[in-house]
Amino acid sequence: MRVLVTGGAGYIGSHTCVELLTAGHEAIVVDNLSNSSEEAIRRVEAITGKQLPFYQVDIRDYDGLDEVLGKHQPEAVIHFAGLKAVGESVEKSLLYYQNNVQGTLTLCDVLSKHGVCDLVFSSSATVYGDPASVPITEDFPLSATNPYGRSKLIVEEILRDLQVSDSRWNIALLRYFNPVGAHHSGQIGEDPSDIPNNLMPFVSQVAVGKLECLSVFGDDYPTKDGTGVRDYIHVVDLSIGHLRALEKLQQKPGVVTYNLGTGNGYSVLDMVKAFEEQTGRTIKYRIADRRPGDIAMCYADASQAKKELGWEATRDVNDMVRDTWRWQSQNPQGYG
Ligand code: NAD
Ligand code: UD1
Repeated sequence: MRVLVTGGAGYIGSHTCVELLTAGHEAIVVDNLSNSSEEAIRRVEAITGKQLPFYQVDIRDYDGLDEVLGKHQPEAVIHFAGLKAVGESVEKSLLYYQNNVQGTLTLCDVLSKHGVCDLVFSSSATVYGDPASVPITEDFPLSATNPYGRSKLIVEEILRDLQVSDSRWNIALLRYFNPVGAHHSGQIGEDPSDIPNNLMPFVSQVAVGKLECLSVFGDDYPTKDGTGVRDYIHVVDLSIGHLRALEKLQQKPGVVTYNLGTGNGYSVLDMVKAFEEQTGRTIKYRIADRRPGDIAMCYADASQAKKELGWEATRDVNDMVRDTWRWQSQNPQGYG
């Protein structure tokens, strides 16, 4: 299959391009490089030995997208392009709605013109807000507590409406839990441009000596050790989930929604311990106040994806921390 990948130079997009190319698909990337580097594209080509056509195009640019679509005539799209920093989204809400919502509208307009109506969308477990219980199934109530999360919710709703109004569309809404880890080659991985907001990039930057000390945000949650519990999923497992979703769209299912997680919850201190054990490094940490907006526990019931996509995560926490560390230690400055 020939697949257009928006945001394909980013963290999850670059790993998904590796899986697409390795499985014999073709991929074409559009990315405005607002949070990524073209070096990731070159690394994907080096890992796979295949070519990955790249266009520095913003998804809000109708004519730019139109040209790429006309040239490559993809059969399906995986739509990763978006801004994802929760704190920034509170400060720059219009930018988040323009980029994530307006960008998706423009993309869908162009796709519609070219008759490309199979779409996989990057949603997030953040659409469950503060869930009443765990594990979380796809039919839990949805809510948002910040503009980033709301942009995901709004796009999910827009895509459902789009499919109702035009039955050519088949759409998979994939709700990711907490993607971590890196390709086992150590060639590609997560490269935050600023001080990381997320736990695992922070931990690995402490391990490599770039940051001094991890702040553990709260040790008084109602969890086994008081620290927050999340469903960390290896980025390669997550990427493979996108290939299964593309296959599902061939059955013309309309709109389908899947949690992509492992179904297991690990605390902050579990992750720190696993990292120390697997890498032999000591992670200096201190207990800090809770981070506003954080929830105690969040993990998936991923049985629907297993049943309907034949997909389940196979990499465990030790794989996640080892691969994170291989990428970080081989690339202390990220892509440079
Ligand atoms: P990322 O920032 O590494 O990748 C996103 C890519 O999109 C970047 O390369 C960026 O340059 C590009 N981009 C942003 N706006 C664009 C625009 N207007 N036009 C073209 N390109 C644009 O992030 P990621 O972690 O790979 O996330 C991919 C997607 O998955 C995002 O939509 C994100 O919201 C979603 N998601 C991520 C996580 C996570 O924890 N990483 C969790 C849930 C959902
Ligand atoms: C964050 C986002 C969420 C997004 C998800 C996946 C926030 C508030 N939420 O969720 O919208 O969908 O990433 O990308 O940013 N932690 C520390 N110290 C740190 C960093 C994190 O203790 O320096 C803790 C957190 O309190 C949490 C856990 O580690 O318990 C995971 O945090 P993080 O990686 O930021 O992900 P989420 O908060 O789950």
